[in-house]
Amino acid sequence: MGKLIHLRHPLLEHKLTHVRDKQTDTKTFRENVSELSALMAYEITRDLSTRPQTIETPLKTMTGQVLDKAVVLVPILRAGLGMVEGIHRLIPTAKIGHIGLYRDEETLEPHSYYVKFPPDVSTATVLLLDPMLATGGSVVAAIDALKQKGATDIRFVGIVGCPEGVARLQKHHPDVDIYLAALDERLNAHGYIEPGLGDCGDRLFGTK
Ligand code: PRP
Ligand code: URA
Repeated sequence: MGKLIHLRHPLLEHKLTHVRDKQTDTKTFRENVSELSALMAYEITRDLSTRPQTIETPLKTMTGQVLDKAVVLVPILRAGLGMVEGIHRLIPTAKIGHIGLYRDEETLEPHSYYVKFPPDVSTATVLLLDPMLATGGSVVAAIDALKQKGATDIRFVGIVGCPEGVARLQKHHPDVDIYLAALDERLNAHGYIEPGLGDCGDRLFGTK
């Protein structure tokens, strides 16, 4: 079964509290989502393999270490876009794929409207990004699409999840580890996480 890793750090708690607060304005919300994502990525990439590279410092020849394997970031549109910039600043060589999904408001099932992955997605470490793991339908569908293109090393990076979403993801994709900054109590009757942070896409892009 995929591991659930609840990342805990005072800075994550602090920023997440701003993100959850309904008084937080769009700009601050966006900045905090970006910073949270970068802090999480620092931990999530701790075990990436490196290979030796010989370089000349101004004083001497030495052997350093550089990332061995390509990293691909895949945000689920729209809200996953808010997580890209912070992580991309840490890993500027990462390529970026996109997957467009929206939830049917009645059935809560995801509908795909756009898919574009870089060609080396099958050999890369893929960080799949979506701030909200609610029913889990969107993430399961995104991983289905990534696996169809041959991806084998996939890590899911979310900000807030709930037990229902974690269970669905672990059932459908037991090989994918799940990284969250918070595991909230439950999903409500409308498919929103409680206490959660509301509609992440709307709060990131000011659409409500
Ligand atoms: C939201 C959110 C996730 C999805 C999570 O997207 O950004 O992608 O719901 O819910 P799930 O786990 O139940 O699938 P939404 O469909 O509202 O689209 P948007 O990001 O374009 O607003
Ligand atoms: N999507 C969101 O943006 N928020 C939720 O709580 C659930 C799904």
